[in-house]
Amino acid sequence: MSKRIDVKDLNVYYGDFLAVQDVTMTIEPRSVTALIGPSGCGKSTFLRTLNRMHEVIPGARVAGEALMDGQNLYGAAVDPVQVRRQIGMVFQRANPFPTMSISDNVLAGARLNNRRMSKSDADDLVERTLRSANLWAEVKDRLSRPGSSLSGGQQQRLCIARAIAVRPEVLLMDEPCSALDPISTLAIEDLIAELKTEYTIVIVTHNMQQAARVSDKTGFFNIAGTGKPGRLIEYDDTETMFSTPKEKATEDYISGRFG
Ligand SMILES: Nc1ncnc2c1ncn2[C@@H]1O[C@H](COP(=O)(O)OP(=O)(O)OP(=O)(O)O)[C@@H](O)[C@H]1O
Ligand SMILES: [Mg+2]
Repeated sequence: MSKRIDVKDLNVYYGDFLAVQDVTMTIEPRSVTALIGPSGCGKSTFLRTLNRMHEVIPGARVAGEALMDGQNLYGAAVDPVQVRRQIGMVFQRANPFPTMSISDNVLAGARLNNRRMSKSDADDLVERTLRSANLWAEVKDRLSRPGSSLSGGQQQRLCIARAIAVRPEVLLMDEPCSALDPISTLAIEDLIAELKTEYTIVIVTHNMQQAARVSDKTGFFNIAGTGKPGRLIEYDDTETMFSTPKEKATEDYISGRFG
């Protein structure tokens, strides 16, 4: 199930603007990789290239390679829709389908993969995934209400449930806990720890404690100034990154001296 991702000399553009320059990194299967760095350094941009969500933006493109288990995700014969099914994503801003019910939101992706799911299988899946996302208790009595009837933090957990319901091989999470209270944050961190036994997970976070708690590897992105591209400055075991980083910029960032 779990996949390895190799990124080689990846440059990411919005039109003429080079947003992320020259990233080379290997993301190990059955592990959690945290991406950290100041606002605007290209973390979300880079994350979106890993499941080909970047190119849906007009003028956006990439150069270089991103391989999943050796296969180029950007190969001519590769269907981007298939890539997005295998590599799920939780976006920085919660984006449930507003008019769809809570349970239909959870099932939206899963139904594309399995159109003939029985009612009881669907009910099971809804309950199981909502429990994992720490949302079940709050919504179990109103599963047919629209997704937009939930609070911001609940919507974020609904989006996490929707992403894991399809059992993607890789899960990309862009600040999944930024709208959550400490209890739900810990629940999501527990879920991440559980998911990594089967999946490859990449998480963007501004929370250093969270990166230290949940990840095996950490990548620090930084930017030299406005209009300059973001770069991967240092990438190592999380323990090393937080105890003995090699770069001064990494040390300054994680100790809160800038950013
Ligand atoms: N759709 C877009 N079109 C043009 N430029 C964009 C677009 N999205 C992001 N950018 C630019 O790309 C750069 C990287 O942005 P990105 O959103 O990846 O940063 P980030 O590290 O995720 O920041 P944050 O921590 O604030 O979420 C920024 O200069 C941003 O203005
Ligand atoms: Mg971002």
